[in-house]
Amino acid sequence: MAALAGSGGSVIDVGTDHGYVPVYFALEGLFSRIAASDIGKGPLQSAKSSAREYGVEDKIEFYLSDGLKSVPGPFDTVVIAGMGGETMVDIISGCPWVGTSKLVLQPQSKTAELAMWLNDNGFVCRAAGLVEDAGKLYVAFSAATGDGGFDLMGALLEGRDPLLKRCLSRERGRLLRAVQGMERGGRQDGHQYSRLLGELETVEKAMEEAAKW
Ligand SMILES: C[S@@+](CC[C@H](N)C(=O)[O-])C[C@H]1O[C@@H](n2cnc3c(N)ncnc32)[C@H](O)[C@@H]1O
Repeated sequence: MAALAGSGGSVIDVGTDHGYVPVYFALEGLFSRIAASDIGKGPLQSAKSSAREYGVEDKIEFYLSDGLKSVPGPFDTVVIAGMGGETMVDIISGCPWVGTSKLVLQPQSKTAELAMWLNDNGFVCRAAGLVEDAGKLYVAFSAATGDGGFDLMGALLEGRDPLLKRCLSRERGRLLRAVQGMERGGRQDGHQYSRLLGELETVEKAMEEAAKW
């Protein structure tokens, strides 16, 4: 997340919980203004404890807030990690200034829905990467408003992430199982079936592309 966030200007980590991301920013001196927010008092307390432990409590602003609602923005960079894609859409769409920010997102679920929302609302994918933890693969990416559409797969292919081939093969298996399940249940008419076929096609094309590396 920190690599995708880069440096310079102001940054906020929304749903910070343990607070490791803003603590890292503060320790490395990467941003001139650093904030951390969470909807829960307990997680926000835990972020303050981390900051105290690392001696950077005075370098971070802390906000108890649902998304960005009670946060004095704007921020140049907004980091949101470890939540469902639908919660991220709620947070981003509820904020009037977020269109001028760079977003750094790591969805736990509903990535396709989040990507679709970003595409429909004028965001492009600037960079993307994969991380493996305890056998699970996670995608993280940066986004900003711009022209050309939101192409997460294109950014992953461009980054030649070493985990991408494994991720694509898992994703293909998941999509094939879902498609076959719908076919067995005779549910080939609906929107969801054609969306799955579209996703499968994208994954298979990306696999062909990655096979050339
Ligand atoms: C699984 S933790 C992720 C922590 C950290 N960002 C990470 O990726 O390791 C999710 C955190 O998001 C917070 N959260 C959930 N919904 C939120 C919202 N609408 N606004 C702010 N924080 C939220 C939770 O309280 C929790 O601390």
